[in-house]
Amino acid sequence: MSSDPSPGGGTPRPATPPSLLDPCATPLSAVPPQQEREPQDPHEKTRPIPWLAALAFLLLFAVGALYVALDTQPGASIHGDRRSSADLSPAVTAGAGGAALAPAQGAALFANQCAACHQAQGQGLSGVFPPLAGSEWVLGPPQVLAAILTYGISGSLQVKGQTYQGAMPAFGHLKDEELLALATHLRSSWGNQAAPFSMADIQAARALQRKQPFAGGAELEQLPR
Ligand code: HEC
Repeated sequence: MSSDPSPGGGTPRPATPPSLLDPCATPLSAVPPQQEREPQDPHEKTRPIPWLAALAFLLLFAVGALYVALDTQPGASIHGDRRSSADLSPAVTAGAGGAALAPAQGAALFANQCAACHQAQGQGLSGVFPPLAGSEWVLGPPQVLAAILTYGISGSLQVKGQTYQGAMPAFGHLKDEELLALATHLRSSWGNQAAPFSMADIQAARALQRKQPFAGGAELEQLPR
C-alpha cells in the first residue's frame, strides 16, 4: 500500500510506520507504545518484620516478664493499687450466717455513702454532722450502732458533748454484709478501737422492723443493749 498524500510533489512526508495506521497490523499481545512510557504499577512485596524490631520487642517482653517474676513483694502491690491481698480477702470477723466482706469494702462503702457528711476522716463538721471518730454511739453497744445505720436518726442527739439537730438517713437498703463491713470499719478506724461487730447485731436491728428513723438520742437510749 503506497501512502503519498501529496501528489503535487514537494518534500515527501516521512512515512508513517504501518503499524500505527492499521491497528490490525499490531499483534494483540504486543504492549502499545503509550503504555511502555508509563512507570510500573506499584505492587506489594512480602516484607518480614525487620529483625532489629523483632529483637527489640522480644527484649521488652523478657524484661517485663522478669520484672514481674522477680517482684519480691507480691502481696504489697507496690506498683499501683495500694491495697494488700489481706485487705481484699474476706475478713476473719465473719459472724453467724452470711459471708463477710473484705475490710477494703467497708472503707469503700464509707467513702461512697458517709464521707460526704461525716467527712473522710470521720471527724464530722462541727455543729452540722457529728464525728464518728471517738463517738460514744460508734464505740458503744453494737446493736445500737446497727440500729442507727439501719433506720437513721431524726431529732436531737448528743455526740461528744455537742448537741446535733440534724437528720441521719437510713441505710437499711444495704445488704447485711455491707452493713457489717461498714460497722466494722467505723469501729476500727481513725483511732476507734471497739469490740468486734457481728452479723447477729445487724440481724437484731433488722428484727426491730421500724418504719421511721429514731427520734433522737432519747429513743436510742431505750433500745435493748
Ligand atoms: C446526709 C448526711 C449524712 C450521711 C450521708 C450520713 N450521715 Fe450519719 N449522721 C448525720 C447526721 C446529721 C447525724 C446526727 C443526727 C441527729 O442529729 O439526729 C448523723 C449521725 C450518725 C451517727 C450517730 C452519731 C455519731 O456521730 O456517732 C452515726 C454512727 C452515723 N451517723 C453513721 C453514719 C454512717 C456509717 C453513714 C454512711 C453509711 C452515715 N452516717 C451517713 C448525717 C449523715
